[in-house]
Amino acid sequence: MNEPLILGIETSCDETGVGIVRGRTLLADAVASSVEEHARFGGVVPEVASRAHLEAMVPTIRRACETAGITPADVDAVAVTSGPGLAGALLVGVAAAKGLALSLDKPIYGVNHLAAHVAVDTLEHGELPKGCVAMLVSGGHSALLAVHDITDGVVPMGSTIDDAAGEAFDKVARVLGLPFPGGPWIDKAARDGDRLYVRFPRGLTSQRDLERHRFDFSFSGLKTAVARWVEAKRRDGEDVPVNHVAAAFQEAVCDVLTRKAIDACKDRGFEHLLIGGGVAANSRLRAMAEERAAAAGITVRVPRPGLCTDNGAMVAALGSELVRAGRAPSPLDLPADSSMPI
Ligand code: KG4
Ligand code: ZN
Repeated sequence: MNEPLILGIETSCDETGVGIVRGRTLLADAVASSVEEHARFGGVVPEVASRAHLEAMVPTIRRACETAGITPADVDAVAVTSGPGLAGALLVGVAAAKGLALSLDKPIYGVNHLAAHVAVDTLEHGELPKGCVAMLVSGGHSALLAVHDITDGVVPMGSTIDDAAGEAFDKVARVLGLPFPGGPWIDKAARDGDRLYVRFPRGLTSQRDLERHRFDFSFSGLKTAVARWVEAKRRDGEDVPVNHVAAAFQEAVCDVLTRKAIDACKDRGFEHLLIGGGVAANSRLRAMAEERAAAAGITVRVPRPGLCTDNGAMVAALGSELVRAGRAPSPLDLPADSSMPI
């Protein structure tokens, strides 16, 4: 029997993504990003994102189908991110998915964006281990999740209590005069920097904080500390060593992320750590996670960078897992739920 052919639609933030998978094989991953339209605002503007999704939706579906060499009528099911995310942006994707499913008379699967970030790894590394911790780090989320069976969803262990990890990268990049989105620029600048040049604070790692926030993150204090440090240098008329500051800031973020992620694995007795979200592309995070996990007997799974950021393939991947597991589809009046619980 042929594996199911699934088309996935993702519009929770600023990427219009349409992915097509057959079973666990990726056939197409078309992404149209409105990131450049947001760059001059220094962050994602919800209204701009919604309009961009509307304009990009049909061409992106078409492009994905062409790449996969299929027509929409070949699809066995449509999957769509139904939350969490920006309300208006989600609505565009959910409406498009409903239209497609209804016109093709095919089932629709509304999926959780965070669970989809986890499921995408199946396209690269095959079946997910039964029992892993997933660390999702992007511009919108910083979460530690326990995953038993991805078709049952994910269980939150902790998240950021203020800024997301990617947001911290973007804000610090702005302080350093680097373009938006700042994560890749900081990563690049840090390569020629000394990560021990300054020791910036590691949020929620004191003994007292760990009692209440063992698996939570906080990056706003770190961001403020970097901004104050840079301001002081400028006030004194000194040059700001951008490479060193980028490296020292990145070190602080990666130190906390990897420490807590490995502690979460130990807490659950899981031997696998999966990292996803845009920040998973960070070279220092990957290296540090590999090193520390190996020392703790834990295997790290990180999908390739193109699959870590928001895309339709991850939604199709989760849809495919749900279909394989024989899960019931969603009702056709499936709502977009911007604050969907994990
Ligand atoms: O997953 P994503 O594309 O979108 C969501 O936010 O959901 O993640 C984007 C975030 C941005 O904050 C960006 O600066 C960050 O991921 N990012 C990185 C790197 N590449 C992207 N952060 C650190 N290092 C990178 N190499
Ligand atoms: Zn995301």
